[in-house]
Formats: sequence, C-alpha cells, structure tokens
Amino acid sequence: MTEILHMENINKSYYMGEEELPILHDVNLTIHSGEFVSILGPSGSGKSTMMNIIGCLDVPSSGKYLLSGNDINDLDEIELAKIRNKEIGFVFQNFQLLPRMTALQNVELPLIYRGLSFSERQQRAKAILERVGLADRMKNLPNQLSGGQQQRVAIARALVTEPTILLADEPTGALDQKTGSQVMELFEELNNDGRTIVMITHDIKIARHARRVVHILDGHLTEQTGQEVE
Ligand SMILES: Nc1ncnc2c1ncn2[C@@H]1O[C@H](COP(=O)(O)OP(=O)(O)OP(=O)(O)O)[C@@H](O)[C@H]1O
Ligand SMILES: [Mg+2]
Repeated sequence: MTEILHMENINKSYYMGEEELPILHDVNLTIHSGEFVSILGPSGSGKSTMMNIIGCLDVPSSGKYLLSGNDINDLDEIELAKIRNKEIGFVFQNFQLLPRMTALQNVELPLIYRGLSFSERQQRAKAILERVGLADRMKNLPNQLSGGQQQRVAIARALVTEPTILLADEPTGALDQKTGSQVMELFEELNNDGRTIVMITHDIKIARHARRVVHILDGHLTEQTGQEVE
C-alpha cells in the first residue's frame, strides 16, 4: 500500500517568550493508504498539536514530515495551504457548519472554491450526502438537524473534494453515546470503501473502532496495537 503519511523524529515546541516548551518528542508515525488509525491520549498529551501538524495547520520544530510524498519543510505558507486543501478533509468536534446554509450548500462550498460548475457541484454534493445517509435532509439548515446528522453533513463536506486523508478531531465529542457509535459505524463503512482515516480521541471506546490505535502520552507516541494495512 502507498505510504501517505510519514513522520520521522518530529519535535514540536511552543515558546512562551524566551522559554521553550517541548510538546512532541521524536514522534515517528507512518500511515498507508486505506488505513483507519486513531491517536488516543489524555487531555494535554499533544493530540491537537499532532492534528495541527498532520493537517498542515502548523509545522514541526524539527524532524521530517512527508504527506503524499511532499516534504512539508520545503513548503511556504501558500504551498502548505494548497497541500492542506488537496490532501486533508477535516472533521471537528463541533461540526463547524455554516448556519445559514442548507446541508447541501454546506457540502457544495468546498467545490465552489475549486471552480466546479453548478451541476457538477450539485451532483457530487448530493451523491456524498446520500452516502452518509442524508438523502432526505439536504434542504435542512444545520439547526434543523440532530447533532449526529450535522456531523454527517460535516463528514460529507470533508469528503466531497476526495481528500487523501479524512482527519477527525474528537468527532463524537459533542454527541451522545448512541449517536457517537453510529458516526463510528459510518467511519468504518467509509474505511471499508477505501478511505484513509486518522482520528484523534481521548476515548478508548471510540478509538477501538479504528483498525490501529496509536497512543500518545506527554508528547510521546508510546504504543501501537492492531495491524497496519500491508
Ligand atoms: N499555542 C500554545 N502555546 C503554548 N503551549 C501550548 C500551545 N498549544 C498547546 N500548548 C500546550 O501543549 C500541550 C499539549 O496541548 P494539546 O492541545 O496538543 O493537547 P490535547 O491532547 O489536544 O488536549 P485536549 O484533549 O485537552 O484537547 C499542553 O500542555 C498545552 O498547554
Ligand atoms: Mg485537543
């Protein structure tokens, strides 16, 4: 399988004035196309810091990060944004849908930025909304949808551009247990369709839906269980 994410001795520090705060320590991680990986760790362990680096929202202080073969160190802000838009579909805890737009318009939006025609946008957005089980809710505004449905819209929006990685940060954090499990079942189905998923969570029950669990503790990737896709 193709290697799509490769991190080698990644370190990340934040600076408070002169003071260096080391957060990630020599992180090594390789993810292949078609994997479903969760990064599991307690509050403050460095999960969001990892997510920001994986998603090219921030850069490491040192170490090597290759995303789909692109060396992130070589890129400037604009190139980083391009890679991010092409490679990563983000899903957040709080959905982050635009409140005055329907489900369909929210999902279409990333395609407008790509300059696709109206009919092509409609076709692709509708198809992906159907895939996540929202065929009959496309005209609803976010506040006319349940939390689980809103997260499905957000997942559809993340996938409509066909990103290399679906990157989710606590995607069930705002959902009750039952709805959260349904969203995890959707992730499993999407992974069975061949989507590569990286999910950040503090919840071991949620993490176990992934095929591979990577633990993070105090900025160290400590343990890997399950099997990598060969
Ligand atoms: N911009 C920043 N400047 C300084 N320190 C930061 C910054 N962002 C995060 N930190 C520190 O880095 C550590 C890891 O933070 P991070 O947000 O990655 O944790 P997390 O695992 O996502 O936690 P949570 O589960 O609470 O979201 C924490 O000690 C935090 O205080
Ligand atoms: Mg966090």
